Amino acid sequence: MKRRSFLDKSGLGLSTLLVAPKVWAEPKTTNSKNKPLVTPYAIATWNVPEAVNLAGTALEKGRNALDAAIEGVSFEESNLKNTTVGKGGAPDREGTVTLDACVMDHLGNCGAVMAVEQITHVASLAKEVMLKTPHVILAGEGARQFALSEGYLPENLLTPESKKAWEAWIEKSNYSPQINVENHDTIGMLCSDQLGNLSGVCTTSGLAYKMKGRVGDSPVIGSGLFVDNEVGAAVATGLGEEVIKTVGSFLIVELMRQGKTPQASCEEAINRILAKHPNKPDFQVCFIAVDTKGQIGAYSIHSGFTYTINKENKTTTQAVESVF
Ligand code: GLY
Repeated sequence: MKRRSFLDKSGLGLSTLLVAPKVWAEPKTTNSKNKPLVTPYAIATWNVPEAVNLAGTALEKGRNALDAAIEGVSFEESNLKNTTVGKGGAPDREGTVTLDACVMDHLGNCGAVMAVEQITHVASLAKEVMLKTPHVILAGEGARQFALSEGYLPENLLTPESKKAWEAWIEKSNYSPQINVENHDTIGMLCSDQLGNLSGVCTTSGLAYKMKGRVGDSPVIGSGLFVDNEVGAAVATGLGEEVIKTVGSFLIVELMRQGKTPQASCEEAINRILAKHPNKPDFQVCFIAVDTKGQIGAYSIHSGFTYTINKENKTTTQAVESVF
């Protein structure tokens, strides 16, 4: 379906679209003579060298931060060995894989998709929502239909390995969604391009064996991701319910606005969660954050969290400090 016919069918006239201001603004893709070039970098949650290398190479070529981040995470969305993102992600308790993602650019434009079936590259789809609809979020069947209308191909996202793991889970689980430190490893990526513009992306299959229709923090702007080009950006991984309750990524950016470093801001966001859990929790939450000076912060509840950064053609994965 072409865009015009999609809009006609959806009842969204062009007049509706024309009054939606920022969604049409494409992030800059070329260097500007008005602003000095700076060293770009890509940073992502977890040990994902291929993804940050792809993003870093795109940034070195002058791509804008948002497109570089989407290109980076698309590697993990296609990676069948990654059981927490994209194709091959763990399904819900009915055995259906549903994906969530959001994007946010340096102008404050954002887009998100929630609980999407059959579409692998949901980060890219979230950008399409941002650019081609008057909305910020599309969910479920509406998001899938929109993807098909934009030329995305439907795929079976449940691999034989993920199906086998789900069948083993269903045998002994009492159909009870499980919270632990391992089953929700979202990929969040923040990029700063040659103009020093910040953008971010968050993509996930969500909590393994979640209830049908459950959506976590990852596609929720402010919770899973927040970008303010004047201040910095933050992204979350871990148990989405806890990140949503404290609007974690927005909180971190606001703390940086008040003068805290990215590290101190991530620590305070984790402590806000822990303040509601007097005993050592059995769930994990982790944040990474950057500010406009290129300072980095990262913190998690439990040990084991890492982030990966590509800068000046060098990729390193760092262990992150944690409370426990
Ligand atoms: N952070 C991923 C989720 O909870 O769905």
